Amino acid sequence: MDDLVLARAVHVLAIVHWIGGVSLVTLVILPAVQHLAEPSRRAALFEAIEGRFAWQARVSVALAGLSGFYMAWRLDAWALFGDPSFWWLPAMVLVWAIFTFVLFVAEPLFLHAWFRRRAERDPDGTFRLVLRGHRILLTVSAATVGGAVLGAHGVVF
Ligand code: HEM
Repeated sequence: MDDLVLARAVHVLAIVHWIGGVSLVTLVILPAVQHLAEPSRRAALFEAIEGRFAWQARVSVALAGLSGFYMAWRLDAWALFGDPSFWWLPAMVLVWAIFTFVLFVAEPLFLHAWFRRRAERDPDGTFRLVLRGHRILLTVSAATVGGAVLGAHGVVF
């Protein structure tokens, strides 16, 4: 087995865990919390559940980035990043950069505190904002996964 195949396996496993977790949170956990909990308890309940996934997601995001940049370097794919028919390459980096910023910078530095303050003031509005943000991120991530699988296996857009 060569190093490129190994890097691809690590990449796909990391993506499955990370984007799969985002799907579960968006499509199952957030709607359940919305229906089962009082508005004032939703933020705390959501934080308690998602907090358990956040550190796992940090590991997967790091592994996806390392394996992704390794493949790009091994394949010498840099020139393709500017080619519109390979839109899925910069799309992957964009999705990765958004999650890296949220998980490694915004969450520990200010997002957590901002979320608590806003949830105290407006629990319903804050929850709807969280749900909308997750739906947007999941849609962009899913489109990127689909485009990347097709593109990496020879489909020219
Ligand atoms: C730093 C960020 C990333 C870089 C540099 C990167 C790079 C790459 C490269 C170069 C390939 C092509 C491998 C090949 O042609 O054999 C690839 C494949 C792939 N990437 Fe990424 N990637 C990154 C992040 C992501 C993210 C965030 C996602 C999902 C949202 C993703 C999903 C995929 C998928 C599904 C494949 C196709 C795997 C296959 O079917 O063989 N990547 N990535």
